[in-house]
Amino acid sequence: MRIGILGSGLMGAKLGTIWARAGHEVVFSYARSEHKLKRLARETKGKAQAGTPLEAAWQADALLLAVHWSRVDDVLKQAGDVSGKVIVNCSLPMNADNTDLVIAHTSSGAEELAKKVPKARVVSAFNTIPSEVLFGVFEARRRASRPSLVYCGDDASSKKTAAQLIRDVGFDRLDAGPLRIARYTEPFALLVAQLAYAGDGRPELAYRFEQFRTKG
Ligand SMILES: NC(=O)c1ccc[n+]([C@@H]2O[C@H](COP(=O)([O-])OP(=O)(O)OC[C@H]3O[C@@H](n4cnc5c(N)ncnc54)[C@H](OP(=O)(O)O)[C@@H]3O)[C@@H](O)[C@H]2O)c1
Repeated sequence: MRIGILGSGLMGAKLGTIWARAGHEVVFSYARSEHKLKRLARETKGKAQAGTPLEAAWQADALLLAVHWSRVDDVLKQAGDVSGKVIVNCSLPMNADNTDLVIAHTSSGAEELAKKVPKARVVSAFNTIPSEVLFGVFEARRRASRPSLVYCGDDASSKKTAAQLIRDVGFDRLDAGPLRIARYTEPFALLVAQLAYAGDGRPELAYRFEQFRTKG
């Protein structure tokens, strides 16, 4: 796949690096320095390059949106026409100091994003895990027991693309349903962040949902 990274910070840099190492073609975009984007591309040792958001979106099979909520409009404007594109959104609708969600209960960041780009196909994924765990999960991807990753979206084919990208990182994909379920996954992401960063913290944290059936 050709993957455009819109926002090459903690999440975008790591996911882009992992996907390049997994054999995808990656374009890193949207950081404050071009030097950083070039370094990221070089360090993947895979098929990766630095570019503008417009270049990242060009011929992309999937775009990862990984910016602070306050930067979403800006990066989308720079990306140009994203009609028909699969947008995998890990961005959470956080306030300026990242202490709370600014959209919740009656909508979600993912749904508001879908309204901003109605011709794109938005999937909500990778928002429920801390960036610190990503390389560890990738390293452990051949183990029998993988951590879960919930994702949701309204379009079957874009969810298939997202599912592949989730598997490539090393997670067990867990389809939570339509995009409106992001109303539940986004607050859940804050619970995971609380467990990862509060107090003593254990930022290399992932989760796993399991079933326990009775025999009777
Ligand atoms: N970090 C996590 O563990 C985590 C987990 C789940 C969800 N999320 C969500 O994922 C999204 C991304 O999080 P993140 O931690 O990856 O954020 P981040 O590290 O702050 O990355 C944001 C990217 O946007 C770039 N950027 C910011 N302002 C810019 C500007 N004016 N012009 C150009 N580029 C600009 C930053 O550039 P620089 O590289 O130059 O700083 C950086 O590359 C957020 O919505 C967050 O809530 C994060």
